Amino acid sequence: MIPVSSTRHDHWPLTNPADVAELADGEVHAWWCVGGSEAVVQRRRYLDALLQRLLGAYVDEDSDALRLGREERGRPFLADAHGKPRSPDFNLSDSAGHSLVLVSRTLRVGVDVERSNRRLRHRELAERYFAPEEAAAINAMDDEAGKQHFLQLWTAKEAACKATGTGLGGHMHRWAFAINEGNPTPRNIPDEAGTADDWRFLTLKLPEDGFLATIALRGRFERLRLFRLEDSGT
Ligand SMILES: CC(C)(COP(=O)(O)OP(=O)(O)OC[C@H]1O[C@@H](n2cnc3c(N)ncnc32)[C@H](O)[C@@H]1OP(=O)(O)O)[C@@H](O)C(=O)NCCC(=O)NCCS
Repeated sequence: MIPVSSTRHDHWPLTNPADVAELADGEVHAWWCVGGSEAVVQRRRYLDALLQRLLGAYVDEDSDALRLGREERGRPFLADAHGKPRSPDFNLSDSAGHSLVLVSRTLRVGVDVERSNRRLRHRELAERYFAPEEAAAINAMDDEAGKQHFLQLWTAKEAACKATGTGLGGHMHRWAFAINEGNPTPRNIPDEAGTADDWRFLTLKLPEDGFLATIALRGRFERLRLFRLEDSGT
């Protein structure tokens, strides 16, 4: 198994990206950013500016000159002059004006944030979309615990599909998880995703209540650092 990091997953200091832009092998940075809008056009502009600002700090280049490309199924990447992917890898999820961005030089990363207080028919959804043992675990719980468990599995599946880049459609059900010591552990992995030993999944305690996030990390994981972006209105 990949070694367990001793990092606490609940301390998010307010940080300027330029101050922490060195990324060691196996290191993952997670940025909690508040701002933007639900309106489509403003959201697009905000997220583009946010990614440029964050990634610009890591490559120490003028943010305006950075180019992003997209894989076949929409996964964005930082592009070189020929439009090919270059380091660092990143992934973003946003929900209700809150975004979580992961950045890593050596791992391939995926993230999903969901509002944890939303109303949902978690048992019905689990019966329909989850593996039988996942649905059974949820069915055995009371409403509140079952809903949290459902969201944890859902965010793990979505984060996994975002790390691989397949997108969700037709792929989420190919991943199955159990929750061990608070974090998702893969039980079923699609062939193209390698083996469970290649992966690490962590459910994060976010700086604000009402949200739940799981991150999926593929590669040799050493350390996670959490930050809140200073002046994240960009
Ligand atoms: C994007 C997707 C993975 C998750 O969306 P979501 O839960 O609504 O939103 P999130 O906030 O968690 O993530 C959105 C961000 O994930 C990233 N993203 C988009 N496609 C992605 C993919 N295939 N893999 C990983 N990340 C992706 C982008 O940064 C996106 O932000 P953007 O909308 O500003 O571009 C989902 O919509 C999907 O499955 N898309 C794939 C579509 C597809 O299969 N297209 C095939 C070509 S037709």
